[in-house]
Amino acid sequence: MPVDFASLPLREVRKGRALQWDPHAIDFAQDRRDWAALTLPERQILLSQVVGFLVGERAVAHDLAPLQQVLRRERGHMEEEMYLTQQTYEESTHVEFFQRWLNEVLPGKLGEDVPVPQGKGSRVLSERLPRAMTALNTDSSRAAQLYACTVYHQIVEGVLAEVGYQIFYDCMDARGILPGLRQGVRNIQTDEARHIAFGTYLARRILTENPELKDRFSAWMEELGNEARGDAENLFVGHSQPYPFGLDREKTLAFSNTLCRRRTEAVLSGAGVEA
Ligand SMILES: [Fe+2]
Ligand SMILES: [Fe+2]
Repeated sequence: MPVDFASLPLREVRKGRALQWDPHAIDFAQDRRDWAALTLPERQILLSQVVGFLVGERAVAHDLAPLQQVLRRERGHMEEEMYLTQQTYEESTHVEFFQRWLNEVLPGKLGEDVPVPQGKGSRVLSERLPRAMTALNTDSSRAAQLYACTVYHQIVEGVLAEVGYQIFYDCMDARGILPGLRQGVRNIQTDEARHIAFGTYLARRILTENPELKDRFSAWMEELGNEARGDAENLFVGHSQPYPFGLDREKTLAFSNTLCRRRTEAVLSGAGVEA
């Protein structure tokens, strides 16, 4: 059976191919100068963001494969498998970017010369995500597939990461600092918009074919949305008001809730209609 070039997954593959970028081509000379001029609390909050993103990108790169394999076992989803091949490559690019920034901008080794930022890591990333994805190795059900792409594409990419980009821009844009980090984060956000579009397409397809799962999807989004908001709260632990860079805790938490509601509506509004 020929692949369908008009399908959403293959349209996204072509967009992604045209937008490929090299994480080693971004210049960090100004980032090094800007970093040296930051206050300690500013460095701490930015470093916890960069390290949080590196951990997150490593987690999503590690854990996507079982989704591709379950689609393969089910058969008939060649275009979706092809999309996930590109997505895995892009997640690896994102790992390279954040690792390179840490290697080249920090004035020493993280964990040796520069202390690792304190604070609670994300439970969504360390527990929910790997559990949901590796479950697909033994559970091929549509419910397991939907749960996996809900945690991965809707919550990790559609809520946690989107809150993170906003924090990055709030820290850097107004002061025009760290141009290399801003460039990489913008490129990553553009890549991630395609990942979210694919995940939304996949969730809609499953819900169109299995409408009995809609209530479970809504319940998962509510439960995971609460955990995502907890992750956003953790960012401010150890800091006191006024927060570094003028960050606003309440605005950040409200943004997390808004994103979660938007992602839920985006999936449900398209379930049953052509994506
Ligand atoms: Fe990524
Ligand atoms: Fe992604």
